[in-house]
Amino acid sequence: MKRYQLFEFEDQEWFDADFRNSITQFLNIVIMKLKLYHAAVPRIQRVLKKTKENRILDLCSGAAGPIASIYQLLEKRGWQGKITITDKYPNIEIFKHIANQSKGKIDYLSESVDAINTPENLLGMRTFFTSFHHFDAVYAKKILQNAVESKVPIAIFELTERRWINILVAAFLSPIALCLATPFIETVSLKKLFWTYAIPIIPLTFAWDGIVSHMRSYTVDELGRIVDSIENSDSYNWEIERFPFPWVKVPLTYLIGCPK
Ligand SMILES: C[S@@+](CC[C@H](N)C(=O)[O-])C[C@H]1O[C@@H](n2cnc3c(N)ncnc32)[C@H](O)[C@@H]1O
Repeated sequence: MKRYQLFEFEDQEWFDADFRNSITQFLNIVIMKLKLYHAAVPRIQRVLKKTKENRILDLCSGAAGPIASIYQLLEKRGWQGKITITDKYPNIEIFKHIANQSKGKIDYLSESVDAINTPENLLGMRTFFTSFHHFDAVYAKKILQNAVESKVPIAIFELTERRWINILVAAFLSPIALCLATPFIETVSLKKLFWTYAIPIIPLTFAWDGIVSHMRSYTVDELGRIVDSIENSDSYNWEIERFPFPWVKVPLTYLIGCPK
């Protein structure tokens, strides 16, 4: 299937913050319950060890579930570092909650951080979960080039994939699951209930964003071509792969760039 760079509601500045937060928080529940990114931990740990990094800068954090659960696993494996969570549209309520629970190990930026122009003063290994598909090939290259110029490691993990089965699940199953879960989401409000059940804008935009997320995901080959096009790419070791989970049949695509 060809890659289509269609728009997602979530990316639009005018999109209601409560709608965006309902979507990212539901996504979080799914990712955490199914432990969808746990397989990323040994790969991230390997890079942290090699580069002796004691900081992770998570970009496009959304409701920050993946990085918060990864932090706990890294800590159990002896990593003593700190994590900063960021987003172009930061969900301050959730960021604060995660920071408080982490006892000072996770902090957050309340100002907008655009991953396309990550400021150099934000230190640490850069991570992206379920978000690299948001960027077209020009911006994807810019993000990787920026990491290389800043001499920081970068790790990108994606669950989305251009397959019909994923698109069908996003179109039909995901909005139903969101409706079932909404009353149990921490920041539920009358407004969110209204726009989920009375006029189902939230499930419909979630379905659209899910379909588009799959349709604009990169394959391993496409990621490889973007890496080949950046300057000084040979100053890094690149790992670009897709691996299946043992417990759910969702393959994970990842790209790791580590300074040599
Ligand atoms: C699908 S969510 C993924 C959230 C989280 N990483 C996860 O895996 O659950 C994508 C996130 O990317 C953020 N985003 C989109 N464009 C961005 C940009 N240019 N810079 C930073 N964040 C961006 C959105 O606000 C949203 O929170």
